Amino acid sequence: MPSDPNKKPDATRLQSDFSDDAQFRLLVQSVTDYAIYMLDADGCVSNWNAGGVRIKGYQGEEIIGQHFSRFYTPEDREAGEPERGLRAARERGKYEKEGWRLRKDGSLFRASVVIDPIWQDGKLIGYAKVTRDITERYEAELRLEEARRVLAQSQKIEAVGKLTLGLAHDFNNLLTVIVNSLDLIGTRHAEDPRTSKLVEGAARAADRGALLTRQLLAFARGQHLAPETHDINHLLARSEALYRRACDTHITIDFQSGSDLPSVLVDPGQFEAAILNLVVNARDAMPDGGHITICTDLHKCIPPGQPEAPAVAYVRVRVTDAGCGMEQALLDRVIEPFFTTKGVGKGSGLGLSQVYGFATQSSGFITLQSEPGVGTQVSLHLPAMVP
Ligand SMILES: Nc1ncnc2c1ncn2[C@@H]1O[C@H](COP(=O)(O)OP(=O)(O)OP(=O)(O)O)[C@@H](O)[C@H]1O
Ligand SMILES: [Mg+2]
Repeated sequence: MPSDPNKKPDATRLQSDFSDDAQFRLLVQSVTDYAIYMLDADGCVSNWNAGGVRIKGYQGEEIIGQHFSRFYTPEDREAGEPERGLRAARERGKYEKEGWRLRKDGSLFRASVVIDPIWQDGKLIGYAKVTRDITERYEAELRLEEARRVLAQSQKIEAVGKLTLGLAHDFNNLLTVIVNSLDLIGTRHAEDPRTSKLVEGAARAADRGALLTRQLLAFARGQHLAPETHDINHLLARSEALYRRACDTHITIDFQSGSDLPSVLVDPGQFEAAILNLVVNARDAMPDGGHITICTDLHKCIPPGQPEAPAVAYVRVRVTDAGCGMEQALLDRVIEPFFTTKGVGKGSGLGLSQVYGFATQSSGFITLQSEPGVGTQVSLHLPAMVP
């Protein structure tokens, strides 16, 4: 429509419209915490701001005109994620999602994405897209979640430990009475072979009960340890034949001993039992045969559950197998006493309980890493003695 030459332009309004528009563009352009940009109706980038440069690494001239799907990972692109986002925005008026996106240099960042459709006179002319880099927050949440999981796990084990300690002591006292009584019956009826046989059977069961009680006490850290100064490689070498005998011929054990390791203060009998438990577990995880590695080294790390504490030097023994591995849900339970997946008579579920109790009572700790179908690694950490 031709403008009325007689009508004076409203100078203030023009000025204000211009500056509002320019100011708004300036605002969007200079925001650096958010990538704010528009896509045309086909999904191609039509403008770009400083946040886009900072977060995604592209300058405006290299990205304008390109399809926005390049920000997605190949897997997401393949799964039709970019189109799904635009469709959802069109159909529902807004699309919000969190996911992994690619920067120009190929690195990944965790993105919080909002897409809004832009309509003009009932026609879709494009999309407004706001992307925020939430990698730090996401990783902090993951760390917090892991810390909570570890804390809950250690509280559970601590509670089970207290309960076990009480039970094991009571059970031990009862067993002492049973064993003494059996001894008496045995001596009084030594001439009666039937009674002797019954007493022998009962004594064997009582011995088995005593062994279980010792393992329970080991888990609950209520065991009497006799720590001595030892070189861990010597201890392993001393029991090498025992470990090899525990595995059938279809399993090989490879020792990789770290050199110049500091000594440790351990009960050698309990150490041998702990490694034997780990070797037997590794063997059972590889029924078709395979390879076990027992590796020692010096490892400096912050003790678990004490994030504020300084790093401590540990002599570490890692027992690794390439067996069936475990899911996280299973891993969370394996230290519990009597937790076993082995058949009746094949396992009492006290092996890892003993390893855990022995490590903790020796001022160390254990960590377990496992992947189903790949294998398991149990690391026993014992504090290195300062020379
Ligand atoms: N290296 C491993 N690979 C796969 N699963 C394992 C491994 N070590 C332990 N497990 C799982 O953890 C469970 C508990 O192990 P733990 O050593 O405490 O008891 P167990 O071996 O079943 O019995 P026990 O050691 O008392 O004879 C096992 O039953 C098994 O399911
Ligand atoms: Mg075991």
